Amino acid sequence: MPIFPDKKKKEVMHAHEQIERLREEINEHNYHYHVLDNPIISDAEYDQKLQLLKELEKQFPLFVTSDSPTQRVGANPLKEFQQVQHEIPMGSLDNAFTENDIIAFDQRVRSRLNLQDEIVYMCEPKMDGVAVSIRYEKGRLIRAATRGDGETGEDITQNIRTIKTVPLRLRGKGYPSILEVRGEVYMSKKGFDLLNKKAEEKGEKIFINPRNAAAGSVRQLDPKITGSRPLSICFYGVASPSPDLPFTHSGILTVFKKWGLPVNAYEQEAKGVAACLAYYNAMKKKRNNLPYEIDGIVLKVNSIENQTQLGFISKRPRWAIAYKFPAEEVMTTIEAVEFQVGRTGALTPVARLRPVFVHGVTISNATLHNMDEIHRKKIHVGDKVIVRRAGDVIPEVVRVVAHEEPSSVKAISLPLYCPVCHSKIEQVEDEAVARCSGGLFCPAQRKEAIKHFSSRRAMDIEGLGDKIIDQLVDTALVNSVADLYSLQFEQLANLERLAEKSAQNILDALQKSKKTTLARFLFSLGIREVGEATAKQLANYFGELSALFSATEESLQKVPDIGPVVAGHIAAFFSEKHNRKIIDELIAAGIYWPKIMVTSHNLPLSGKIIVLTGTLQRMSREEAKEKLENLGAKIAGSVSRKTNYVIAGEDAGSKLEKAKELGIEILNEEQFLKFLTSAT
Ligand code: IVH
Repeated sequence: MPIFPDKKKKEVMHAHEQIERLREEINEHNYHYHVLDNPIISDAEYDQKLQLLKELEKQFPLFVTSDSPTQRVGANPLKEFQQVQHEIPMGSLDNAFTENDIIAFDQRVRSRLNLQDEIVYMCEPKMDGVAVSIRYEKGRLIRAATRGDGETGEDITQNIRTIKTVPLRLRGKGYPSILEVRGEVYMSKKGFDLLNKKAEEKGEKIFINPRNAAAGSVRQLDPKITGSRPLSICFYGVASPSPDLPFTHSGILTVFKKWGLPVNAYEQEAKGVAACLAYYNAMKKKRNNLPYEIDGIVLKVNSIENQTQLGFISKRPRWAIAYKFPAEEVMTTIEAVEFQVGRTGALTPVARLRPVFVHGVTISNATLHNMDEIHRKKIHVGDKVIVRRAGDVIPEVVRVVAHEEPSSVKAISLPLYCPVCHSKIEQVEDEAVARCSGGLFCPAQRKEAIKHFSSRRAMDIEGLGDKIIDQLVDTALVNSVADLYSLQFEQLANLERLAEKSAQNILDALQKSKKTTLARFLFSLGIREVGEATAKQLANYFGELSALFSATEESLQKVPDIGPVVAGHIAAFFSEKHNRKIIDELIAAGIYWPKIMVTSHNLPLSGKIIVLTGTLQRMSREEAKEKLENLGAKIAGSVSRKTNYVIAGEDAGSKLEKAKELGIEILNEEQFLKFLTSAT
């Protein structure tokens, strides 16, 4: 404690005690509210305490700590997320779809454990959200990360801190000094509906379902946005077992609750497979009445000792399984079929349905995919059909229930001309897809191209929602993506349902979007079959946009993962005069990106694809990977014909076998070290 004059000292000490006491009280109320679901004071009293704490902390900023309940939303927006290497990988679960799958799972478990008796399982709802890993050290939340690819995730600590149900400090005693817990961040159905309603009012993009909304919310660079989203969390396990924890999974969940970590209220032990199946059926019935979405149940062997014995196979626990609910099917009638034009001109037939209710959502449209699908399923306008909605998949027509009298139904045929721009429809032989030949002359394609350009993973122009883009194109204010950057305040503010504040926000977002990366820029151009990953490869390989302008199809195929078809699309795109003109206009509008320093194809191992397998003695796999990547090599996760070398440490398994089978050069550790020296 800093030195204060005596009189002041007393006052300061008193404030410190008061602050600490208030924090403890507030944490305790959070626990009653979020974990026990049983608040013991009114919301108003709670707010009063929080307010008092805020005032005291303002008066005595010296006592503000990052785990104070006042500090949930405090951090500044990030430029990008830092990567987090998971010490214990975040695996996934095997899926079961039938009772037989579960019976087989139970048999596998018992035979591996050599047990005749019925196994005790912990049954849990499978929350439909996004997985996170949160690390507590000495009871304080120090880091939170997304799953990413299971090995490397993103550091979303400051976003997770904004979720009220996540304790910033663990409650009580007895927790291990380092505790890494895993759980699911989710959005309630109600919260989701409200969020979408607000987005719709503002003309912003709406989310397809609560899971997407939760995933999008935890990946916001500005924690204030995450903080404004109705997110919750439910914890379902630890990253790894520890002797300091209870020796059953149910025991671990019980101490979680004690420590203030919310768990699902429907978790339940079940002895033997029949009890597990009964739990599944009970949850299936409850599902629609739950305030959040679940897409199945999870069964876990309750004994931690047994879990350890069973272990993992390719990052999936042998001691757990997800038993998914079937996609929900309902019957309705096709009232009409319309054709939608996508970004590349592809025509998608969409069935307009007599509205039906599934999972609490009204469905009035379903995709029919393409004409082949319509013929295969013998679908007509007027048919009674079964429609299915599974998770975040767009509803689809499964089959016709009964064919009506031919006189009462109407055949569906591909239009000859685009329903939007009236250009000719073209169908390439052997391709199921028919396309509008209008290109960017077609307003539908133009709208989609602009929506793609401004989307989050592309130029990320926040606030420029689909409805606004539709209006901008319809009123001819915007004809190409480049026109976006010459929009004026009045033009935006005059649009229907767009407040002045939102108009200014869009202008600010446009300004902000000008600083980007070459990879994002390439992705945003919407070149056919150039997704994010390919755009990154292109940016890394060529380093500069001008190099891409003159790249031949041949040289494009030297980029990892680019084959002749994609190379053809890229070359064709850059040879089009109007595409080059738009790119020039975008650059002239001020779009820029940091120079890419390493043009990896100049490096000794550039273009080489290497797979690491088994355990190396002299360095960790991470170090080996980094060394190779610094030399320009690409590290792949699996062996294919494109692999140039396989580096095999001790206990290498199937990858080594595959390499032998394909005749790929294999290096042992000695040879690998020599290889490194010769390459540097
Ligand atoms: S346990 C090794 N329990 O389902 C993975 N997962 O594919 C152990 N999930 O990524 C996961 N509810 O995001 C577990 N009660 C639950 C869950 C659950 C949802 C998600 C989780 C995971 C995915 C499994």
